Amino acid sequence: MRLQGKVAIVTGSSSGLGRAIAILFAKEGASVVVNANKNVKGGEETVAMIKKDGGKAIFVHASVAKPADCERMVKAAVDTFGKLDILVNNAGLEIRGGVMALSEEQWDEMMSVDLKGIFCASKAAIPEIKKAGGGSIVNVSSVLAFDAIPERAAYCAAKAGAIHLSKSMALDYAKYNIRTNALCPGAFHTPLLEQSMIDSGDYEATKKVLTNKSVFGRMGRPEELAYAALFLASDESSFVTGSVLQCDGGWFLG
Ligand SMILES: NC(=O)c1ccc[n+]([C@@H]2O[C@H](COP(=O)([O-])OP(=O)(O)OC[C@H]3O[C@@H](n4cnc5c(N)ncnc54)[C@H](O)[C@@H]3O)[C@@H](O)[C@H]2O)c1
Repeated sequence: MRLQGKVAIVTGSSSGLGRAIAILFAKEGASVVVNANKNVKGGEETVAMIKKDGGKAIFVHASVAKPADCERMVKAAVDTFGKLDILVNNAGLEIRGGVMALSEEQWDEMMSVDLKGIFCASKAAIPEIKKAGGGSIVNVSSVLAFDAIPERAAYCAAKAGAIHLSKSMALDYAKYNIRTNALCPGAFHTPLLEQSMIDSGDYEATKKVLTNKSVFGRMGRPEELAYAALFLASDESSFVTGSVLQCDGGWFLG
């Protein structure tokens, strides 16, 4: 097992990619803290799925946008499982709109979760990962950090910020043996993407565009992203830090 004896927090793991990451990490031997700020039922379902397979997990209801919540989440990990080795900053939301359409409140909400959320959770987690002798932080960004698509100004900006924040963290905390990498998914059919296709006003056309972004002519399966996260979280990537791993089915090819 590739994460035997490790303790991991996966933020935003009540659905979609985070759920797949939490389940795979547990299968690979990690004790997992499942987290979400709103979808408590989904978070508890992820825990139940892990336990059904014989894994170890707890759910912590917390917002990554709130420093006190992040402190509580990290404390729960350490109180329950004894330490913390891995943090996957996966929680995210997507608010549609260009600069003209977005309100200041929407801009702030996007930044508070998709960018500041990484800051808050990492700030709480780093002292504990340091105490454990080092570990791995994986920040889930997006292909939209590089490729702007219409009406996603705040989302693209937050995801681009997440990449450079990852590099800064990689540099600053190498001295504690903490590696930090960014993981950029392409199109994966999750509740977030489903809502995005509905909000586009032409579900089928948007689905076709996203499907054709991959050279395989399909969207990714959440487990495929989870395996990329597993590589970055495990000791197999011990010489990989400050890097950006794209898991996007060839989004930028052709
Ligand atoms: N699905 C895709 O195609 C795709 C592509 C690129 C990047 N991403 C990124 O992957 C990550 C996961 O997205 P997903 O597609 O699985 O979406 P999702 O909506 O299924 O999952 C998002 C998760 O984040 C949680 N969350 C939202 N705000 C939170 C907060 N303040 N505190 C804690 N948890 C919070 C939600 O409860 C949920 O568990 C996001 O960061 C998203 O931007 C997804």
